[in-house]
Amino acid sequence: MAWESLDRRTPVIEPNAPPVLSEAIRAKIRSFFPRYETKRAALLPALHVVQDALGHVSWQAMKEIAEVLEIPPAQVLDTISFYTHFWTHEKGRKVVVLCRSLSCQLLGADAVRQAIERQLKIGEHETTEDGAYSFVTEECLAACDHAPCLLINERLHKCVKPGDVPKLLADPNNDRVAMPRSELFDRPAGSAVESKGGA
Ligand code: FES
Repeated sequence: MAWESLDRRTPVIEPNAPPVLSEAIRAKIRSFFPRYETKRAALLPALHVVQDALGHVSWQAMKEIAEVLEIPPAQVLDTISFYTHFWTHEKGRKVVVLCRSLSCQLLGADAVRQAIERQLKIGEHETTEDGAYSFVTEECLAACDHAPCLLINERLHKCVKPGDVPKLLADPNNDRVAMPRSELFDRPAGSAVESKGGA
């Protein structure tokens, strides 16, 4: 999970902080509006756009998303705190997500977890000092028949053994996310609307 404990007595937003959402990010969020009946309905795509652009969704970014969508900031926080995919603080360039659900547990996820922690010298919810890796666990990654499973920057690795961990972590292909989530919201080529226009 992408959580950290916060001292609620500490202000998290500077009153005069400069904006963090560029005009390009705001325009991208606004481009979703025609698809939905309300601006609020564009909240999830907006969160993906911001996280893909900035790496995480800071408190300041939440406030600005709320302004663009014309909703209370609390509604942004409600949504972001429900999904472990979203980060409210900086994360490593590579995010390692180990499944912690039953099939993976039964087939050795704990040993894989120990290998990851030993290799990276961090525990769950932590980031290496050089900012290269963050490590979290999540519930079922939907590949139970290939347990134990882990994701590195959203690339799925199946039937992982503790001995595989050093090689998987060092794989240079893990430096990038093949398909940023925000792009999944872009209208696919040949969609119904485009077809209608060409008819
Ligand atoms: S239990 Fe691990 S992928 Fe489903």
